[in-house]
Amino acid sequence: MEMRMRSLILCTGLLMAGSAVAQDIDALKLDTREKALPVLPKVVKMMQDTVADKGVAGAIPVCKEKAPALLKARAEELGWTMRRVSLKTRNPERGTPDAWETAQLTSFDLRAAAGEPATALEVGEVVTQADGKSMFRYMRAIPVGDVCLSCHGDPADIAPEIKAELAKTYPQDRATGYSKGQIRGALSVERPL
Ligand code: HEC
Repeated sequence: MEMRMRSLILCTGLLMAGSAVAQDIDALKLDTREKALPVLPKVVKMMQDTVADKGVAGAIPVCKEKAPALLKARAEELGWTMRRVSLKTRNPERGTPDAWETAQLTSFDLRAAAGEPATALEVGEVVTQADGKSMFRYMRAIPVGDVCLSCHGDPADIAPEIKAELAKTYPQDRATGYSKGQIRGALSVERPL
């Protein structure tokens, strides 16, 4: 009898702990979304404005320097890390996903194939690292819009001078062949708990 009571209490305790964790994760996701996501439309707007002002070649520095710099600056303000990752990188030094990120990107592609809109794909998890410390990891898909196609679209549609310019800096470029609405990559956030 006593054993039964004890295991009942234990089970209830575990259940409560489980739902507290779920609530924490929802709160962390919401907070991360509010603080990190506004950078993404800023980059898209900057890309659109720069292409309109300076043409496609003149906009290369937006994806190459401005976007990483904006993410880094925001991450430093927050005390987190933020970067862009992709399964098909243009710059493998910066954008190669780790194992957790690769799993999430693969799952984003599957979810998009199953009909979820690429604009809404996200994931957030508490992950325990090798050193035993926990951290909250969050990823949000970055969809391909019209303005992205002149540098990430079908190679046949990319202007020869842009192709030549990209080939100079990125001999291992895999980031072409996308169409509108596909997932170009993701914003990846790590915040210490
Ligand atoms: C003018 C050309 C150009 C346009 C337009 C452009 N990009 Fe890029 N993109 C680049 C370059 C160059 C890099 C490599 C950046 C680096 O060196 O880190 C890149 C890299 C990226 C990366 C990092 C992962 C990787 O492949 O290395 C993402 C994500 C990305 N672009 C998304 C987008 C999205 C989304 C759009 C449309 C809103 C877009 N880009 C439009 C040139 C462009």
